[in-house]
Amino acid sequence: MSKQLFMNLAQAAVRYRETLPRLPVGVSASRDELLSLVNTTLPDEGEAPEIALQTLIAGVEKGLIQSGSPRYFGFVVGGATPVSVAADWLTSIWNQNAQVYTTSPAASIIEDVVAQWLLELLGLPQTASVGFVTGTQMANFTALTTARNVMLQKHGWDIDGNGLSGAPPLNIICGECCHATIHSAVRLMGLGTKHVRSIQADGEGRMQVAAFRQTLETCEGPTIVCVQAGNVNTGAFDPLADIIALAKKHHAWVHVDGAFGLWAAVSPRFKHLVAGVGEADSWATDAHKWLNVPYDSGMVIVRSPEAHRQLKIARCAYAGPEDAAHRDGSQWVPENSRRARGFVLYAALRHLGKQGVQHLVENCCDLARAFAAELADLPHVRVLNQVVLNQVLWRVEPPGIADTDAFNASLVARLQQAGVCWMGTTQWHGQIALRISVSNWATTQADVRQSLESLASSIEKEYQCQRSLTGQ
Ligand SMILES: Cc1ncc(COP(=O)(O)O)c(C=O)c1O
Repeated sequence: MSKQLFMNLAQAAVRYRETLPRLPVGVSASRDELLSLVNTTLPDEGEAPEIALQTLIAGVEKGLIQSGSPRYFGFVVGGATPVSVAADWLTSIWNQNAQVYTTSPAASIIEDVVAQWLLELLGLPQTASVGFVTGTQMANFTALTTARNVMLQKHGWDIDGNGLSGAPPLNIICGECCHATIHSAVRLMGLGTKHVRSIQADGEGRMQVAAFRQTLETCEGPTIVCVQAGNVNTGAFDPLADIIALAKKHHAWVHVDGAFGLWAAVSPRFKHLVAGVGEADSWATDAHKWLNVPYDSGMVIVRSPEAHRQLKIARCAYAGPEDAAHRDGSQWVPENSRRARGFVLYAALRHLGKQGVQHLVENCCDLARAFAAELADLPHVRVLNQVVLNQVLWRVEPPGIADTDAFNASLVARLQQAGVCWMGTTQWHGQIALRISVSNWATTQADVRQSLESLASSIEKEYQCQRSLTGQ
């Protein structure tokens, strides 16, 4: 039996989680070094499971970014609460195929329950349909494909019979600062860049309403508008209510990319940011970001279940006949066989409750503000965004240094090397910026303080290094 294997695993897991807050957050080994730890020939004879597992752990340990650390501020990564990790283990242990009701009644029913909870939490129409996907990329793709089909059908085009060849031209409007996954979704849908109309954004990355109105007025035929709830750099929200109202008047479909920003709805302090969002036609969000469940977990939500259901008409004969009273999870997403992601969401939401989710979101936002306020007090540091949510953009603008971008790039490498915290860079208004995302349930003020100390010392060391290079 595999008892020893699972006991070893539990021990290794406990050890890892206990030491996680003290581990250096980044990775310092090179790719060659990491590869040399795992790159053996495939054995002819298999190993005992305990040995294979031990070899895996020893082989990859040095290459793990500690993205669950409370001082990991890169990308927008949640920390995976212990209960969600435990439920994720069970998901693997049970190994259900959440394809149709018959392959796992439990997975199907849990998806139904979690879907209702999520709609309530996020303030979205209770009658909307929810598909559980890998992440917001897939959610954007699924929603926009549904939108494409509906809008073309409305304009008299039989998309199922004819496909896209010869279809009426579609207009897709999005902000110039929309997430790259919107553009990827458009390509995956079989549409080219000439269909996309990018709307000028303001300094925070929000779509400008006047520019949007002007473009919308020139759009004839089927039109899809993509708005953003939470810019990945600044956390800023498009003016949702205004844009959605204008788009609706124009009979356009409105899709909301709310990978993390949609979760502002759970907080009385931040829900003004998503005012009007419930009037859209579809939404995309992640649970692996702000709900802090393990990768991967995203949701696609569509106002009209009938429209959503048209996404996949073909059905495997072996899946048996469709029955509206029994949810088939694969009907709402592109995948067929699929992981039962609902179990983790169920446990995570039960554990946190509404108040816990609210606290999680508010705590992250408060810490982001504290970070920004302290950063702004450091010499020559400029905070580049209004910190409306959990994202902080900043850079150092040192006097007397010609190449500020190079200084900041070198600084972030130094900071990552120090290992106390981890943040990455982005391009903002044509310049390099450092990006902080506070998205982890376990982050505290002490973590922010510790990170700021490391940051101040890294900046000082970077100055010294530059001075010694220029002989000043
Ligand atoms: C606004 C926005 N949309 C889409 C995505 C992509 O999400 P995922 O990586 O889960 O596909 C992100 C990721 O940070 C995001 O911030």
